[in-house]
Amino acid sequence: MSLMADPPGADRLSARLRRDTRAARDAARTSAFLDALADGRLSWVAYADLAAQHWFLYEALELAGHTMADDPVARAFVFPELIRLPSIEADLRFLHGPRWQQRIAALPATTTYCTRLRYAANSHPVGFIAHHYARYLGDLSGGQYLGQAISRVYGLNGEGNRFFAFPGIDIEAFKSYYRRLLDALPWTAEEQGEFVAEVVEAYRLNIAVLDELSRRWI
Ligand code: HEM
Repeated sequence: MSLMADPPGADRLSARLRRDTRAARDAARTSAFLDALADGRLSWVAYADLAAQHWFLYEALELAGHTMADDPVARAFVFPELIRLPSIEADLRFLHGPRWQQRIAALPATTTYCTRLRYAANSHPVGFIAHHYARYLGDLSGGQYLGQAISRVYGLNGEGNRFFAFPGIDIEAFKSYYRRLLDALPWTAEEQGEFVAEVVEAYRLNIAVLDELSRRWI
């Protein structure tokens, strides 16, 4: 056996995905806006703005989930326990008041993200699963650290930070199950390549939103 042999399972889609998106994932993780937010350097209005951007993104993503609920491949990824929109709306009511709908606005980068998401995720399972993975697996990974930091910094205790809580989910077990679902997808090498490319695009779109939030609030 060559010393350069890949580890077992290295050819699985979940492993390829993690490998080929590492740079994009590291760039997302080092966002100046999230860093400042988690460090308590920003006013809660900046956090309320992030929550507002989430509303637009998850509305687009979860509507695509409805469209994909009957798709033979994508439907395996439609999990009711992941749905974020009702939690985001409860957070927005707490953060912006009962007239939150009139008070929130999408940043230009959020509109660009939503446009791409609607185009990619409503037309083909490849695009839907790419955007689904980028958001929900992120929420179940770094999002959990961020959620804890935000509760601490803003003294939130259940209200205003529901977005980060997934009460119906055992996170580690869910992430392993999700990776097995990815590995079982009946995709050609070309479709797998398109999927990884769309995940990289999703990271880029997330970073662009965070960069706009940085310019506004830091
Ligand atoms: C506060 C900022 C963030 C921190 C501290 C953070 C941290 C982490 C950590 C520790 C992991 C698990 C280990 C790993 O996969 O390398 C992870 C995974 C992940 N992160 Fe982040 N992250 C942050 C922001 C983001 C953002 C903005 C996105 C945008 C979409 C994102 C998307 C993901 C995804 C999709 C995964 C899952 C990778 C996989 O297991 O397949 N993260 N993050």
